[in-house]
Amino acid sequence: MDKRQELYAGKAKSVYATDDPDRLILHFRDDTSAFDGERMESLARKGKVNNRFNAFIMEKLQAAGIPTHYERLLSDTESVVKKLDMLPVECVIRNIAAGGLVKRLGVEEGSELAPPTFELFLKNDALHDPMINESLAETFGWATPEQLAEMKSLTYRVNDVLKQLFADGDLLLVDYKLEFGLFNGEIVLGDEFSPDGCRLWDAKTREKLDKDRFRQGLGGVIEAYEEVGRRIGVDFS
Ligand code: ATP
Ligand code: TYD
Repeated sequence: MDKRQELYAGKAKSVYATDDPDRLILHFRDDTSAFDGERMESLARKGKVNNRFNAFIMEKLQAAGIPTHYERLLSDTESVVKKLDMLPVECVIRNIAAGGLVKRLGVEEGSELAPPTFELFLKNDALHDPMINESLAETFGWATPEQLAEMKSLTYRVNDVLKQLFADGDLLLVDYKLEFGLFNGEIVLGDEFSPDGCRLWDAKTREKLDKDRFRQGLGGVIEAYEEVGRRIGVDFS
């Protein structure tokens, strides 16, 4: 597969065209951002760790019947994916209260959310990814009601698979964000699943083992990602 021009450089990944018009290369960089890019740092090994982590999770989801864009690892820091028409909507499920929910509603961090909540955010850095709802998404054409229903259903199915996978590694899947796109008209899971876009706590101590270590300046960020990966069986060699 030939790597062609860079199409887009995001905060953590770069996207390249290939000789196949339906395939892209995602390059996972070491760059780490928080607070809408206000804080940026390069963390050694992050690109490789997230590339391998994401590949492992995407394969598990694919095996569980969830359509994903992931095709194969290309190098330590690159993966080949299907080229999607991304929908500008971020889907968030929360199993336990943390982060934005705690700030917004004043609930206690760590309280169990039963049933888990589902929220939509608009992918727009300039507006700081505001929370939206189905009505706004339909009115402004960000997604159709059918697409929203499918994304919601897939996001809950991902929860069933990943809650159990992490539980087997003595980890709590607190919350996570998914992005979807269209491939030949079908809704397909895109972007990445890594500790950058979810919260994971040790089940016994509730130690944070995700990007909150970076957001909160706790240190040991990539070591925590590697610990999580090891517990669920990701190969970082
Ligand atoms: P954020 O960090 O808020 O997600 P970003 O654009 O800075 O935004 P990156 O992960 O650095 O995020 O960039 C990757 C970009 O590639 C994202 O805009 C994402 O939506 C897009 N993308 C991911 N998977 C695909 C795909 N299969 N086809 C097309 N675009 C994709
Ligand atoms: P949330 O608590 O709403 O945001 P914050 O990161 O400000 O605390 O996020 C819920 C989960 O979704 C959390 O694991 C981070 C992830 N997420 C992203 O990675 N990117 C986003 O743009 C959004 C809205 C959430």
